[in-house]
Amino acid sequence: MNWDDSMPMVSIKDVHKAFGDLEVLKGVSMDIKKGEVVCIIGPSGSGKSTLIRCINALNDIQQGSILVEGQEVNDPNLDKLELRKKVGMVFQQYNLFPHKTALENVMMAPIRVLKQSKAEVEKTARALIKKVRLEGKEDSYPGELSGGQQQRVAIARSLAMNPDVMLFDEVTAALDPETVNEVLQTIKDLAEEGMTCILVTHEMNFAREVADHIYFTDRGVIVEHGSPTNFFDEAKDPRTKEFLSQIL
Ligand SMILES: Nc1ncnc2c1ncn2[C@@H]1O[C@H](COP(=O)(O)OP(=O)(O)O)[C@@H](O)[C@H]1O
Ligand SMILES: [Mg+2]
Repeated sequence: MNWDDSMPMVSIKDVHKAFGDLEVLKGVSMDIKKGEVVCIIGPSGSGKSTLIRCINALNDIQQGSILVEGQEVNDPNLDKLELRKKVGMVFQQYNLFPHKTALENVMMAPIRVLKQSKAEVEKTARALIKKVRLEGKEDSYPGELSGGQQQRVAIARSLAMNPDVMLFDEVTAALDPETVNEVLQTIKDLAEEGMTCILVTHEMNFAREVADHIYFTDRGVIVEHGSPTNFFDEAKDPRTKEFLSQIL
């Protein structure tokens, strides 16, 4: 199929995923267009991380389809490296290499995986460190950085592969409250530059401000989706209302 960017960048159709007898995704569908920011919100265990991992082919699926730029992810012949050049991912655990500096952490994948020249990569990596507002921290080791700073290095590391879409799975959930906002600001900067972003988050103010669409999941299904206003002010499903009443 010839994909062009008027078509969804990520198209998820009727995805089913089980771990053994445990059905975790029971027919999930969503489309994400280029430049859109989509937030996935839902109770713990509802399948949010599983879905995110399916988009990046870290989980296989039993039924349905996931297209990234028109390419089927659920295809045994998929070139996973090609997929992961297009799709960047940041997790709750940032997992930086402790014996490498911030700059070296950002430079590793393009040198090792993309075989780019060190000089070329260093220039890009320095610009990315600046973009995540960590100028001056290039030579710091992860242990010398706060959680929020380390998470921003992890974001820069992911951006170094020059992805077309970024997946963020609760990237602020493990951070001290005072460093959460700087990470959210970095994601906001990216969104404003037009990066396509799919985020699992519990940061409701952020979701309201930044999301184009919000999907609410519960027990493997999308209960409802809409604009932030639809979601926060006009939720119809009792499961959404119940969740919001607990969290807001
Ligand atoms: N690799 C796995 N093997 C078995 N069960 C899993 C695995 N990953 C997730 N699960 C289960 O799938 C369900 C959904 O998990 P998850 O996608 O992590 O939910 P969420 O991110 O919404 O909290 C949970 O019951 C979890 O225990
Ligand atoms: Mg999760």
